Amino acid sequence: MTLLKVEQVNKIYTGNVNYQAISNLDLAVEKGEFVGIMGPSGSGKTTLLNMIATIDPPTSGTVMINGANPYSLSFNELAAFRRKELGFIFQSFNLLDTLTVRENILLPLTLDGTSLDIMNEKLAIIAEKLGISHILPKRTYEISGGESQRTAVARAAIHEPKLFLADEPTGNLDSKNSEEVMQLLSTLNKKEEATILLVTHDPQAASYCDRVVFIKDGSLYNEIYRGDNTAVFYQQIMDTLTLLGGKQHVIPPVRH
Ligand SMILES: Nc1ncnc2c1ncn2[C@@H]1O[C@H](COP(=O)(O)OP(=O)(O)OP(=O)(O)O)[C@@H](O)[C@H]1O
Ligand SMILES: [Mg+2]
Repeated sequence: MTLLKVEQVNKIYTGNVNYQAISNLDLAVEKGEFVGIMGPSGSGKTTLLNMIATIDPPTSGTVMINGANPYSLSFNELAAFRRKELGFIFQSFNLLDTLTVRENILLPLTLDGTSLDIMNEKLAIIAEKLGISHILPKRTYEISGGESQRTAVARAAIHEPKLFLADEPTGNLDSKNSEEVMQLLSTLNKKEEATILLVTHDPQAASYCDRVVFIKDGSLYNEIYRGDNTAVFYQQIMDTLTLLGGKQHVIPPVRH
């Protein structure tokens, strides 16, 4: 089953100068797929993700999620749709400083009016899974970067969305914490059959995906599928990035 279908999408930012950030882009993602999106800085990755995230409408073309066109919904319907279907994970964690870890994770359920018993039950399960049970009473400035991102993953996952959208979720983490977060996403994908779209500059993170889609100048450049061998997949990702050009980071070889 196709969970996400992006068809002939264009995005033109208008202002003093108009800029076409995405051109005639097609992308279909199957339910349960873990897809990486890579490409040089400015190639349109975040623009694409924001259109899928129902944050910013395409200039033309369609985005269908789970059979629905989110941009045809009313304001209130769209808010409900986002909460039900989508889970967001950002580079900067986007946790609320005035709330505890527990309150941050429960926020989506609070907004939905879920009962306290069910909230606590779901919280206990997810906190246990992500290894953050012991930090639930803490405030966000009392926890580490890795713990912050695990909290953000818990918040995104607590209402069991169909589609996770992650923009550079490991961008602010060291290699150990990056790997932990990627393991978590990989587990969500394999055990809970979550569909995940991951924007990343990090070939190590991308090598957890089933497929990596490369974007250049707002268009699809190439895509590669993982075979049985992670090391080979990692090398193919590196080779494609080299062909793509642009600024890339020096990343240690694959470890998982
Ligand atoms: N709100 C905006 N208004 C005008 N131009 C924008 C806007 N947002 C992004 N752009 C431009 O669109 C292009 C694509 O930007 P985007 O943020 O999608 O790139 P990206 O691939 O996510 O890059 P990075 O890897 O650096 O995050 C860039 O040239 C950027 O300057
Ligand atoms: Mg970006």
